[in-house]
Order: sequence, then C-alpha cells, then structure tokens
Amino acid sequence: MKKVYIETMGCQMNKSDTERMLGMLTHFGYEETENPKDADLLMVNTCSIRQLSEDKSFSLIGTWGRWKKESKPDLKIGFCGCVAQQKAEQIFKRAHYVDFVLGTHNIYKLPEIIKAVENGEKICECTETHKTEYTRGFGIKRVKSVNAWVNITEGCNNFCTYCIVPYTRGRERSRLPEVIIQEAKDALAQGHKEITLLGQNVDSYGKDFTDRNYRLADLLRDLNALEGEFRIRFVTSYPTDITDELIETVVELDKVCEYFHIPMQSGSSEVLKKMNRRYDRETYAKIVEKVRKMVPDVTITSDFIAGFPGETEEQFVETLTAIDEFELDYSNVAAYSPREKTVAAKWVDKYIPEDIKEERFQRLNDKVKENCLKSNLKYVGREMEVLVESFYERRGVMINTGKTRNNKTVHIPCEENLIGKFVNVKISGAKTWYLKGELI
Ligand code: SAH
Ligand code: SF4
Ligand code: F3S
Repeated sequence: MKKVYIETMGCQMNKSDTERMLGMLTHFGYEETENPKDADLLMVNTCSIRQLSEDKSFSLIGTWGRWKKESKPDLKIGFCGCVAQQKAEQIFKRAHYVDFVLGTHNIYKLPEIIKAVENGEKICECTETHKTEYTRGFGIKRVKSVNAWVNITEGCNNFCTYCIVPYTRGRERSRLPEVIIQEAKDALAQGHKEITLLGQNVDSYGKDFTDRNYRLADLLRDLNALEGEFRIRFVTSYPTDITDELIETVVELDKVCEYFHIPMQSGSSEVLKKMNRRYDRETYAKIVEKVRKMVPDVTITSDFIAGFPGETEEQFVETLTAIDEFELDYSNVAAYSPREKTVAAKWVDKYIPEDIKEERFQRLNDKVKENCLKSNLKYVGREMEVLVESFYERRGVMINTGKTRNNKTVHIPCEENLIGKFVNVKISGAKTWYLKGELI
C-alpha cells in the first residue's frame, strides 16, 4: 500500500472534500498516514478566504518541495481546494515541484489524476462544472469523530463584495435528498452520533430543484425519522432566508438541535449595504428576536469582519453594540482581507490601515469573549444533555468533553471514557469558552 497524507485547511467544506478524496484514494491503493514524512503522496486542501490562509498553503508546499528535492525525488505533491481552483496553472509557475493541481469542481477525477501522476505526468484540473457528486460510489473515509459532515449544497450565489467563495466554489447547487439521506444512514451505521448538514446558505437548499418541491425543512423531517439516537445540526444560515417553517421545524423535531449560526458580518446598515448583504441592522435584529422567542434556550452565533473598506470608527462601534444588543452567544471574527476578483478589493482608496484594522479586530475579540462568558453564565445550575466527543487527561484529572444540544462545550471530570454517549449533567460553573458539568 502507498501512503497518503492530506493537510486540510479552511472550513468544513474542505474537511468534507478531504474525506471524499480519501475515500477514493483508499479504493485505489492508498492508505492514510498521520506522518507527512512517511508519505508517498502529499496533498494540501487549501483555503483562500483570507490572504493569510492562502500564504499558509504556499509555505507548507515549500517545505514539501524541499523534502522532494533533498531526499525523496519520487514524492508526489498535490495542490487542491479553493486556492487551486482560483490559481490553476499558475501554481506550477510558483511551485514547479507540484505534480497536480486539483480545483474544488473536479474532485471526482482524482483516480485518473493519480494514475497519470504516477506515470510522471503533470496535471491541472480546475475547470468549473455543475457537479454535486464527487465520490463515484467509492465512498467517504470519515475522520474518527462523533460528528459527521454532510454537504447539502455546493457553491454560493450571493456574491458578498468581500468574499471569494462564489469564485472558488461556483454557483449554488443542491444535492439530491436521496443521496444525502443515504450518506447520513451510512454515517450513523458507522457509529457517528451527530449529522451536521453543510452549505454556504443552507436555507436555499432545494431552490434549484425543478422536479420537486423539497426544502431544508423537508430534509430535516426525513432525517429526523431515521432510527437511532443521534443529533442533527445545520450550518450556515443566511439571515433573511430563514423561514418561519424552518424555525418551527427545529422546535418540533426532537433530533434537530437548538442552534443557529447566522453571520451578521457588520452591525452597521451602511456597511452591510456595501457588503451586498441583503438586510440591515433592524432586519437582522427582528430575525434574531424571532428565533429566540420561538426556540427556547437557542444558541445564536455569528461572524463579523473588522475593517471593511471605508468602515468608520462609528460604524465599527455599531458592530460592538450589535453583539451586546442581540446577545450573540459567540462570533467568529476576522480582519478584512482583500481578495482577488471581489468587488470590495477594488476600493483601494478606502482600505483601512493595518494598525487600525488590527486594533478593531482586538476590540471585537474582547467583545466576543465578554459575551461568550455572559452567555455561558446563564446555564450555571441547569441540567443539560451532553454528547461526549473527547476524553483526555489534564493535570492528573480525566476529563470528558462534549456539547449540549445548543452547542455549548462542557467539561466533565470522570474516569470513564464516555465518547459517543449521551449523558445528563448539572452545570457547576462557567468559563469563557466552556461550561463545567457534573454527571447526574
Ligand atoms: N456563507 C457564510 C460564510 C462563509 S465564509 C455566510 O454567508 O456568512 C466564512 C466567514 O469568513 C464569513 O462569514 C466572513 O465573516 C469571513 N470572510 C469572508 N471573506 C472575508 C474576507 N475577505 N476578509 C475577512 N473575512 C472574510
Ligand atoms: Fe461568501 Fe456571502 Fe456566499 Fe457567505 S453568502 S459564502 S459570505 S458570498
Ligand atoms: Fe471554505 Fe476557505 Fe474555501 S472557508 S469554501 S475552504 S475559501
């Protein structure tokens, strides 16, 4: 058996693609290794959401290129994912030691590519397709985890002015429910206890079907009906696309968890307009209020960008106040990074100086921390159900960690390994990033 090592950067989409690629590679005589130095084939699944993520992928293959030159001339190197999709042939110019470049649309061609590469060819496959199925029946090799990622849509049609995703992942397309349900069944049969449905905008699932009227709420109902004890989650929700029917479905279905990830991006209506987000501060407020009212104990998380071109100090402060006002439980934050081809990247004269961007980013981080702790404190004294995900030793104590239905991380001191089990705990304390729980 030959050995393959894949380094996965970026979001869950990439993690899911890596599992598909590994599924195919396993079928064609490759075994996964955790040690890159052991590998015959090294692949990096890249992310281009920010310049820093892109730079990381080049520095990694730089190291691999040196290994190849210095001691392993037969080593094969593959450059895959979002940066590959965007740069295609240019990768060879920058890194001549790369054997193949594989974009996000052509994963299904991996078996043929590997064969050609083994015969000494250099391959670049980055043309846009409208495919949604990548494994050709070779299966998915999932990482050992309680959770299983299942894509429901590919691509995005929103073209937010800062974002590269529509260029690296193509137009939005939904995967067929029968394929998704089968993948979920397979994951459950393999012992996974949580299914997380993935899409850039999960609420638009099914909009492109011409032969049926079937949307996210329908998919949730069909998945909820599968046998066994497991949880269902979905990410990411676009604020104005969340329907009442979807919220009601979350409340009604026992396996679907009380958790919504609803990125706001900015607290300022003017900035939102420039970002081409289709809502303003007030509309976002109403959506969050509705979700909170309808779903008891719901956790709502968000994403924000600091230092978008032209953002004034006042507009930035509106982001800080939004986090407080809407009691957002947790938010991912990032400093704006100009991306090639995107509309906002052209507004060079409006760029915010790096030091100001960095300072706003820090303040945003502090605000997120403060609210995260506030949100966690609400649960002290409560009884909650935890699905255990990991088990390890810390300072001589054995700890199980897992998540509540509403996606709060809980640390439970306990000698027994409870991974994959649903346990009831009493919350005894709250820290910024997690709750402490005792088994009951
Ligand atoms: N589909 C999701 C987001 C996917 S990208 C949505 O619509 O919200 C994940 C996050 O990366 C975004 O929510 C945004 O906050 C951040 N991001 C995207 N492009 C960025 C850029 N150019 N600079 C900084 N952060 C960016
Ligand atoms: Fe990017 Fe906007 Fe699409 Fe999200 S909705 S992936 S931020 S273009
Ligand atoms: Fe994801 Fe990064 Fe691509 S966030 S979709 S891996 S650009």
